Amino acid sequence: MGSIAYPQPGDSLLRPIVVDGKSFALNGKNISYRFHVDETTGDLLSDHFGGLVTENPIIPGTTPSSGWSMNGSFRREFPESGKGDFRNPAVYIKHHEGFTVSHFRFQSYKVFDGKPDFPEMPATFGNVDEVKTLVVSMYDAYSDVAADLVYSVFAEHDAIVRRVVLTNKSAKPVTIEKVASFSVDIPAAEYDMVCLRGEWSRERAELRRKVEYGMQSFGSTTGYSSHHYNPFLGITSSKTTESSGDAWGYSLVYTGSFAAEVEKSPHGLVRTSIGMNQYQLSWDLQPGKTLVSPECVAVYSSSGIGGMSRNFHRLYRQHLIKSVFVSEPRPPLLNSWECLYYGVNERTIEKLAVTAAGLGVKLFVLDDGWFGDKYPRINDKAGLGDWKANPDKFPNGLNRVVDKVTKLSVAGSSKRLQFGIWVEPEMVNPKSELYAEHPNWVMSAGLHDRSETRNQLVLNLALPEVQDFIISSMTTLLQGNAITYVKWDHNRAIHENSAPQNYHAYILGLYKVFDTLTTRFPDILWEGCASGGGRFDPGVLQYFPQVWASDNMDGIDRISIHFGTSIVYPLSSVGAHVGASPSHVTKRTQSLKFRAHVAMMSGSFGLELDPETLDEAEKKMIPDLISLAERVNPIIITGDLWRLRLPGEGNHPAAMVVSRDGSQAVLFAYQLLSTVMHEIPVLKLQGLEAMERYKIDNGAIYSGATLMNGGIQIAFEGDCDSRVMCLERQ
Ligand code: DGJ
Repeated sequence: MGSIAYPQPGDSLLRPIVVDGKSFALNGKNISYRFHVDETTGDLLSDHFGGLVTENPIIPGTTPSSGWSMNGSFRREFPESGKGDFRNPAVYIKHHEGFTVSHFRFQSYKVFDGKPDFPEMPATFGNVDEVKTLVVSMYDAYSDVAADLVYSVFAEHDAIVRRVVLTNKSAKPVTIEKVASFSVDIPAAEYDMVCLRGEWSRERAELRRKVEYGMQSFGSTTGYSSHHYNPFLGITSSKTTESSGDAWGYSLVYTGSFAAEVEKSPHGLVRTSIGMNQYQLSWDLQPGKTLVSPECVAVYSSSGIGGMSRNFHRLYRQHLIKSVFVSEPRPPLLNSWECLYYGVNERTIEKLAVTAAGLGVKLFVLDDGWFGDKYPRINDKAGLGDWKANPDKFPNGLNRVVDKVTKLSVAGSSKRLQFGIWVEPEMVNPKSELYAEHPNWVMSAGLHDRSETRNQLVLNLALPEVQDFIISSMTTLLQGNAITYVKWDHNRAIHENSAPQNYHAYILGLYKVFDTLTTRFPDILWEGCASGGGRFDPGVLQYFPQVWASDNMDGIDRISIHFGTSIVYPLSSVGAHVGASPSHVTKRTQSLKFRAHVAMMSGSFGLELDPETLDEAEKKMIPDLISLAERVNPIIITGDLWRLRLPGEGNHPAAMVVSRDGSQAVLFAYQLLSTVMHEIPVLKLQGLEAMERYKIDNGAIYSGATLMNGGIQIAFEGDCDSRVMCLERQ
C-alpha cells in the first residue's frame, strides 16, 4: 500500500478524496460519490452518486418519520441482514452457531495515494497520481467479522472502484453466503436497467427495461461469466438516451458466476448491487482468514449511455488491460477453424499459410485439431489435455510447420508471417492420456456421474497440481516454438462440483494460471475465447488484451454484437473475422465487402475462410480490404467510440471512432435492407471539433460543425451495403 495522505485543512472540496469528520467524498472530474457515518447507529449512509457536488445534497428522508420498517427508508452503503432492513443485503454471513444476523458499524478509515494490490484477483491499476484510495473499516460484533470497504477513485475517468475484504476475527469458522462487491441505494425516481444478454452466437445484446418495485436480477451460474448475461449492470434515468441523461454503469472484474440485482423498495429507493453469485459461494472463512471480493468498477456520465461507455473504454485501456499490446495495432490474421475445422495437417496448413501471406495477412493461426497422440484430435471426441502435435497430421512435429510458416514473406510488406495457436487448457476429454492418468483432476460431485458437454470435462483448477500441469504444458509448447499469438478457448460450463465454494476457488486458480503465463510470455498476443464470446469480461481482459466476440461472423448479427459489446468494452478488445458466405451459422449470404467492413470495426481483424474458395474478383479485393483494416486499426485501438445510430433503432446503424488527439476519425455506416423510393436518413457525426476542418476520403473538406450539425447522406445500394470512411483533420 502507498503512503498515507490524510486530507489537510484547506484542501479543495474537489480533491479526489475529501474527508470531513465522518463524511466521505470521492470526486472525479465530473462526478461525486458521497456517504457518511450515522452517529447514532454507526451505519454507513449513502448521500450521492452522480454529477459533481461540493456538499451532501439535502436529504430529508434519512430519519424515518413514521412506520415500523426501521431501516427501509435509509440509503445504506453496506446493508446486512437481520436488523430491520428488509431489502436485498450486500453481505450475508452464517455464524458458527447458525445465526445470520449482522450489524456492521463504522470503526475507522484510511486514505492512500495509489491503490492496494490484492494479487490473487485481477483489478484496475494506476500510479499514485492517477488513483487514490479510501478504506473504510467496519466491524460486525454479531459474527466477529471485520469488513474493509476499499474504494478507489480514478478522477480522470469519473470512475469509482470498490471491493470488500472480509476477515474472520473470531476463534470459530463462519460461512460467507454473500458479499456484493458494490451496493448502493439511489434516490426514488424513474429508472431503467440495462444488461447485456445473449446465447451462443448472439452474445451481448443490449436489453433495457424499466426498474419496477421488487427485485429484478440476472447473472450467471455457469461457473464462467457466460453467454447468457455479461457481468455488467447499467442504470439510467428513464429519459436517458445514447447521448444525454444520467447513466451509471457497474462492471464486475470477475470471470466466474455472478449476480446483478436491482431492488426498488416500497419507499421507492433503488438498491443496485453486483458481486459473486451467492448460490455458488458458501465460503468457509476460518479464524484469522480473509475473503477478498472481486472489484466492481462504477462509472457515471451525464452524457448518456455513450458517455458511460467512453468512460469504461478509456479506463479499461489505460488501467485494466496489462498486455503490452493494449495500444498496439493488431496484425491482420487468418484463422484455420472455419476453413479446415479438424482437417488441419502439415500439408493443408502450409498451403493455407502460403495463400494468406500472399494476400497480406500477417499472422497465421492454427486453430483446433492439431494435437493428441494416442487419442488424436480428429473431431471433438478426443485429445483435449494432450498438448502435443498429432504425429499423423504433423509427422515432422509442430516445429517444422511453424518454421515453414514463419519463413513466408508477407506480400506488400517487409515482414514474415507470424504463427499463432489454439489451446483449451482448462478442459479434458475422457479419451485422453491426461484423463487416463488423472481421472480425479476433473470437477465432480463425489461418485456421481460426470456429465459431458461437447464430450469434455472441466479440470479442477482449484487444485494446485492442475494449475501446475497447465502452466508447465503451455510453457513447453510456447518455449519450444516461435509462437507469437495464443487463442485460449473454453467450451463448457461447470455442472457437477464438489462444493459451492469450489466455483470461486476455480476462478482463483484460473487467475493464477493466467497471471503466471502472461507474465512469463509478455510478448505473446493472447486472445480469450469461450465457445465464441462466452467469457468477455474485465477479469479476462486484465490478462488478455482481446477476446473473440462470437462464433457468428454474419455481418448483420455481428453489428449488433459489436454495438452491444461496446456498451462496456473498448472496440480494441474485440476480435472479429470475415467468415465464409453463406455464413456457417446463419446461412445468410452477404458481400465480402460488407462482412469485412463489419469485421474491421474491431481491434483484431482477421479472415476465417479459405481464400481459394472465393471468386477471382473477391480474391483481388482482399489485399485492399486488409490495408483498409490496417489503416483504421490504430484509430480503433486508442480512439473514442461514438455510436451514432443503434442497430435496434432501424435499418442504418452507424458508429465512428475519433483518435484521442482528434486528428483522425473513421466512420462505419451500414444499410441492412435495401430501401425503395425512400430517402436515406441524414447521419450526423459526433465527437469532432466544430471549428476544425476534416478531409474525407473523396478529398472534400468540411468543418466539424457541418459534419455534426448538417450531417451526411450516403447513397447505399441494395441489402447489406456499407461504407468505411476516414477523416483527417486539416
Ligand atoms: C470455439 C471457438 O469459438 C471457435 O472459434 C473454435 O476455436 C472452436 N471452439 C474450436 O473447437
